[in-house]
Amino acid sequence: MRKHIVAGNWKMNNDLKATKKLVKQIRKSIKKADLSNTRVIVAPTFVNLATAVKRTKKSKIEVVAQNMHQASNGAFTGEISAKMLKSIGVKTVILGHSERRAYFGETDALLAEKVNAALENKLEVIFCFGEELSDRKENNQEGVVKSQIKNALFHLDADAFKNIVLAYEPVWAIGTGETASPEQAQDMHAFIRKTLSDKYGEEVANTVSILYGGSVKPGNAKEIFSKPDVDGGLIGGAALKAEDFFAIVNAF
Ligand code: G3P
Repeated sequence: MRKHIVAGNWKMNNDLKATKKLVKQIRKSIKKADLSNTRVIVAPTFVNLATAVKRTKKSKIEVVAQNMHQASNGAFTGEISAKMLKSIGVKTVILGHSERRAYFGETDALLAEKVNAALENKLEVIFCFGEELSDRKENNQEGVVKSQIKNALFHLDADAFKNIVLAYEPVWAIGTGETASPEQAQDMHAFIRKTLSDKYGEEVANTVSILYGGSVKPGNAKEIFSKPDVDGGLIGGAALKAEDFFAIVNAF
């Protein structure tokens, strides 16, 4: 049985004071919730990770990183390694977000290196991918998604997928308020699961959690999460307000 996962990607938001406040609000709101089959995740910026880890101890909240460098150490000004993340208690890292790809030129090949470095350091990976609006308009969304997954992940053996969560985020839905319909999400998630199954077999494909990201809000989460191949969401804007994030956590 795949766990439900609701992960809040805070992106470049919340200074130290705002981080402490939001973590406190989320902690308070989920205290009474029955989260036996749901993982609740927040992804603050690097500077606030250690504080967030400390302030979520003994809670049901997991704190994850939004990125990492593929090297173990060295002359990479401004970068953070897997080992550094682990040293502050971070166990999971988001990789391949469309903003990393668009603004920082992260390619499938580079992401394959980052995935390898994360797994070698026993970090779980939330791997993001998704088509652009132009791909969707040409009805090439499946071709694009398949190539993103193959190029960055299909060098791995089946066992590696025990530590991989997939996050389908159609770029045209990120931050736009233009959410994919529940049917569009289900169609793509089913395609992703089939792509995994063709390569690694049904058992592996059925154990991998596939999250949807792209303008998930309290008003649309329930219907999207009700789809059989949608195992939760990667939430941007709505994760910055505790009550909205909690409403999405409760949407299963
Ligand atoms: O990583 C999640 C993010 O890209 C989705 O953002 O604001 O559309 O929920 P948003």
